[in-house]
Amino acid sequence: MAKKYVEMTKSELTQVNAELQKEYDKIVESGISLDLSRGKPCKEQLDVSDDLFRTLTSSSQCISKTGFDVRNYGLLQGIEEAKELFGQLLGVPAENILVGGNSSLTMQYDAFARCMLFGVGEHRMSWIKQGDAKILCPSPGYDRHFAICEEFRTPMIPIRLTGHGPDMDQVEELVNNDPTIKGMFCVPKYSNPTGETYDEKTIRRIAELNPAAKDFRLFWDNAYLYHDFGKETKVANIFDYTFGTKNEDMVYEFFSTSKITFPGSGIAVMATSKNNIDYAVKHLSVQSINSDKINQMRHVLYLKSPENVKDHMKKHAEILKPKFELVEQKFHEAFDEAGIATWTEPNGGYFISLDIFPNTAKTTFNLCKAAGLKITGAGATFPYKKDPDSKNLRICPSYASLEDLEKACDVLSVCAKLAATRRLLEME
Ligand SMILES: Cc1ncc(COP(=O)(O)O)c(C=O)c1O
Repeated sequence: MAKKYVEMTKSELTQVNAELQKEYDKIVESGISLDLSRGKPCKEQLDVSDDLFRTLTSSSQCISKTGFDVRNYGLLQGIEEAKELFGQLLGVPAENILVGGNSSLTMQYDAFARCMLFGVGEHRMSWIKQGDAKILCPSPGYDRHFAICEEFRTPMIPIRLTGHGPDMDQVEELVNNDPTIKGMFCVPKYSNPTGETYDEKTIRRIAELNPAAKDFRLFWDNAYLYHDFGKETKVANIFDYTFGTKNEDMVYEFFSTSKITFPGSGIAVMATSKNNIDYAVKHLSVQSINSDKINQMRHVLYLKSPENVKDHMKKHAEILKPKFELVEQKFHEAFDEAGIATWTEPNGGYFISLDIFPNTAKTTFNLCKAAGLKITGAGATFPYKKDPDSKNLRICPSYASLEDLEKACDVLSVCAKLAATRRLLEME
C-alpha cells in the first residue's frame, strides 16, 4: 500500500517530487488554458431560463394587481406581485420585502453603507462617527463581503466555521460584550466556499444574541437558499426567532435570482423588519425613483411560485451535480493515497472548499498559473487575504465543461502535490 507523503522518508519524497516535476513539466509544455475560478452558471444553465424572454410580451401584462402600470415611475419597494412571491420564497410577509435591482451584493453594500453613513437603530449614530466599528466574518468566506468591509475600512475579525455554522462561543463572547462589534456577514446555506449549512441550533443562537452594540446588524446572505443538487437541505428561517423579539430589527436577509435565472439580469431582494424597510426606503428614495419593475413582473410571471422555483432549480441541479461529482471523484483519485488534502462535498451551492497541505496554497496557485490553469487567488477566502494556514483554495466547478473540468482537476492535483513535496522536503 502506498504511503502518505508525511510518512515518507526523504529519499522516497525526493523520488515522488521528481516524478511530479516531470508530470508538471509535461503539462506546461502541452500549453493548456483552463479556468476553475468562475463561480458562475455555464451556458446550459443560462439556457434553462430561456422562456423568460417569452414571458412578458405585451403591455397588457404590465398592469399590476394593484392597478399600477409597472412601465411607469414608482413603487420603490417593488411591485406587489414580486413582494408576495419573494415573501413566500423567504418565508416572510410581503410587507417585509424590499425588491431591488439586479444584484443582492449591491443591496448588501447599500445596507452596509447606510449603517456606516447614517447609522441605524434608536440613536442612528453613523458607524463612521463612532469610529471603531468592527465586523465579524466567518471564514473561509465570500471575498466580496470582505471587500465591502475593506472599502469602508471597517476592521474584520475572522470567525471559525465549524461545519454547521460559525463558532457561536466565539461569536457570543465578542458580540455580547464588545459594543464596537457592529455586524456579521453570514451565508447560512451552502456557505461560499465551504458549502456548509448552519444548523438550527446555531441559527437560533445567532437570532438570540444579546449584542452590546444596540445598532448591531446581521448581513444574512441567503444566496443559495434554493440551490440544492439533490436532496433538499433545510435551513431554519432566522426571522422565526427574531420577529416579535428585541432583535426584530437585527437581521437584513439578502437573496436574488442571479443563479436561478440570469446573473446580472435577475431580481434581488432584502427581507427585514418593517422598521428597517421604511428606513431603507427613506434613504433609497434619494438614490432612486424605483427599480426595474418590468423585470420584476417578467420574473413573477416566469417563476410563478416556490414550488415552480424548486422544479426549475432541478434543471440546474441536473447540470451541476455531475460536475461536482466529477471533481470529488478526481480529488479522491489524486489525494486519497497522498493524504495531503481534504475538501468539502456539498449538497448544493456553487463551491468546493479544498484544503491542501499547509503553507502551500500560494505555491500551488503560482504553479497552476504558470501551467495555464486559473484558480481563485490563494487567501481570497479570508479577510485581508490572510489564510492563517495558507492552505485553502476555492474551487468553482459550475462554468467549465465536464471535459475541461477533468483536465483542470488533473493539473490542480499535480500542482498541489508538487507543492506539498517541495514543502515537506524543505521541512526535512
Ligand atoms: C454568497 C454570495 N452572495 C452574493 C453573490 C452575488 O449575488 P448577486 O448576483 O445577487 O449580486 C454571490 C455570487 O457568487 C455569492 O456567492
